[in-house]
Amino acid sequence: MDNQDLIQKLQTVYFPDEIERKLPLIEEINRLKKEKNALVLGHNYMTPDVFHGVSDIMGDSLYLSKVASETDADIILFNGVHFMAETAKILSPQKKVLIGDLSAGCSLAESINRADVIALKKQYPGVPVVTYVNCSAEVKAETDICCTSANAAQIVNSLESDQVIFLPDEYLASNVQKETKKKLITHPGRCMVHELYKKEDIDLARKQFDDLVVISHPECKDDVVDASDFAGSTSEMSNFIGKSEAKNVMLITECSMGDNLRSKFPDRHFVSTCQTCPHMKKITLEKVRDALLKEQFEIHLDDEVISKAQLSVRRMLEVSYGKKG
Ligand code: 13P
Ligand code: SF4
Repeated sequence: MDNQDLIQKLQTVYFPDEIERKLPLIEEINRLKKEKNALVLGHNYMTPDVFHGVSDIMGDSLYLSKVASETDADIILFNGVHFMAETAKILSPQKKVLIGDLSAGCSLAESINRADVIALKKQYPGVPVVTYVNCSAEVKAETDICCTSANAAQIVNSLESDQVIFLPDEYLASNVQKETKKKLITHPGRCMVHELYKKEDIDLARKQFDDLVVISHPECKDDVVDASDFAGSTSEMSNFIGKSEAKNVMLITECSMGDNLRSKFPDRHFVSTCQTCPHMKKITLEKVRDALLKEQFEIHLDDEVISKAQLSVRRMLEVSYGKKG
């Protein structure tokens, strides 16, 4: 992308003096990427400077994990949260996988550990375990198959069993339950961002705006999803805007999602209501530069954890993309 294109994108969210300050850092990062043969992946919730300025491939967690499994770069720098960088390491164990801040966590990933999964497997012997990728590598290693918000119902329905242990997001589970005849056994994990939205937010916006399309993430409560026109992964949300002709768009998700889409859909009005993920916001341009410069902070995982977790992530990619991932 040339500088003019980038400036146009950044102008939709930053003041000119902020852009001036960011441009030299963006140039430095892009030079370091080339020097080190590094691939920089950017989740849709990154701030626009990190998203548009320095990420080579952007997308939802499903797509970025597919890309991480296919790259021939020497280094993968993951602009996202810790579980995403771990997933990249699981899929490309021979690569150096870096993240700008190791403490960029996730309330869902923190809601469950390996011992919880083992206890559930004892309680429900023989019942397959599906885990949302928003969990640690140790939890993935105890899992039969992973899923993301883009493929959760598809993964559950791909299994033979009438019962499925579905971890750790109770709201995603209740949304998936509407799309399957299988009985889901759940765990009380929640996304600290999406649990804050209420159906009343949508009712109020519908009263205020005509020609409004409401698009939510399936980590929201099920009455929020029911009151929306569409629910899907972060990339599916963006695709849905492209297909809809509505003038006003209400995104029920993390704030940067709308900030990144404003320049892609300049003819739409984004109704501003959003919640911030404090974990995603730990990834700043400065930390991305330092990560590349000092080749920090590296993701290290136990070999056994990698080989077990790889099976559950690769099975997911196989069901989603129809080939060995
Ligand atoms: P996606 O898989 O939809 O990109 O979402 C990841 C996430 O953390 C949402 O809160
Ligand atoms: Fe985790 Fe929610 Fe943040 Fe996504 S938005 S990383 S699910 S806390």
